[in-house]
Amino acid sequence: MVLHLNEGFNRIGEENAFAVLARAQALAAEGRDIINLGIGQPDFRTPEHIVEAAVKALHDGHHGYTAATGIPELREGVAADIDRRLGQKVHPDNVLIVPGGKVTMFLAILMFGAPGKEIMYPDPGFPIYRSMIEFTGAKPVPIPIREENGFAFSADDVFGQLNAKTSLVIINSPANPCGGVTPKAEIDALVAGLDAWPDVALMSDEIYGQMTYDGQEHVSLLSYPSIRDRLILLDGWSKTYAMTGWRLGYSIWPDTLMDAARKLAVNAWSCVNAPAQWAALAALEGPQDCVAEMVAEFDRRRRVVVDGLNAIPNVSCITPLGAFYAFPNIAQTGLGAKQLASDLLEKAGVATIGGPDFGILGEGYIRLSYANSVENIERALKRMKEFLEL
Ligand SMILES: Cc1ncc(COP(=O)(O)O)c(C=O)c1O
Repeated sequence: MVLHLNEGFNRIGEENAFAVLARAQALAAEGRDIINLGIGQPDFRTPEHIVEAAVKALHDGHHGYTAATGIPELREGVAADIDRRLGQKVHPDNVLIVPGGKVTMFLAILMFGAPGKEIMYPDPGFPIYRSMIEFTGAKPVPIPIREENGFAFSADDVFGQLNAKTSLVIINSPANPCGGVTPKAEIDALVAGLDAWPDVALMSDEIYGQMTYDGQEHVSLLSYPSIRDRLILLDGWSKTYAMTGWRLGYSIWPDTLMDAARKLAVNAWSCVNAPAQWAALAALEGPQDCVAEMVAEFDRRRRVVVDGLNAIPNVSCITPLGAFYAFPNIAQTGLGAKQLASDLLEKAGVATIGGPDFGILGEGYIRLSYANSVENIERALKRMKEFLEL
């Protein structure tokens, strides 16, 4: 028997964080004490008023399909939230409710990726960008994210590689896996330079937009009118409201792309889970202290992680300014990053992710998610130190 799969399946990748999670869970099931600094999800529970809104929606009979683009109340709620947080006007007609933040990148890359095209993406970066670009047959063109730049992207690196084949540029700030926040000046330079490239679309992944520290400003690409007609914005509820398992996200599409996005939604999932959409609305309209409290706690842990990592011989870590990841440089240990991540899990019981799982430039680094208690973070750092001092 020969089954004829689309040849994109020879190239598609995946997200190794899920394989590490499965291995960490398997080791824990064997009775090992595993500290999980691998997967990127808040360790908090979804706030109660959001859970209650989903329960109420079920009791109120929200059991059926909704519009493919999302319930109108939620699309309006997203527009109002963007106005409240960022002072930017978005029309609810341009909002698409999707099952998880990841889905927006899937749609955008499907729209713009094809053999003969090039798509630029951050490296190290969220692994699905490259995976999906490869799947479509487009050429993946990495935008290097460097430690010496504070793990921010540089507009020069984008313009040094843009060409007539480039169909889409993906940027992400605050960023996974490095925790970098790109300064406004660099984003200004990117947007200004794009004037010369009117046919290049942009996808801005702002899923960590509300997680910045040390007074860092999150600069949304929505605040640049000159690119609005080709900007796709990715955001969602997973990180901000500790809702990773709800599978909820949204995108903002320009008028010219909205119908294509809607058609893909109809073809793929019809609509997002109805009670989850009502919960998402409660998240946006309810008290926001839960977000501030979570971010304050991440900030506290961030300091513990950075100090602890810098106290380990041959490890150095710059202070991340956003998201909830630290990306220490481990090159001086002399160990390959994937090997170190694997040894830390198998021998020291600490789950982390090897930098190369986020791109070629991730060699020499590992990613720690500090979405875990201070107590567990301190235990993990102690184990890492002991392991590396051996
Ligand atoms: C940069 C980035 N974008 C998007 C996502 C996807 O989020 P979701 O879980 O809502 O699909 C993640 C999740 O880790 C992420 O790190």
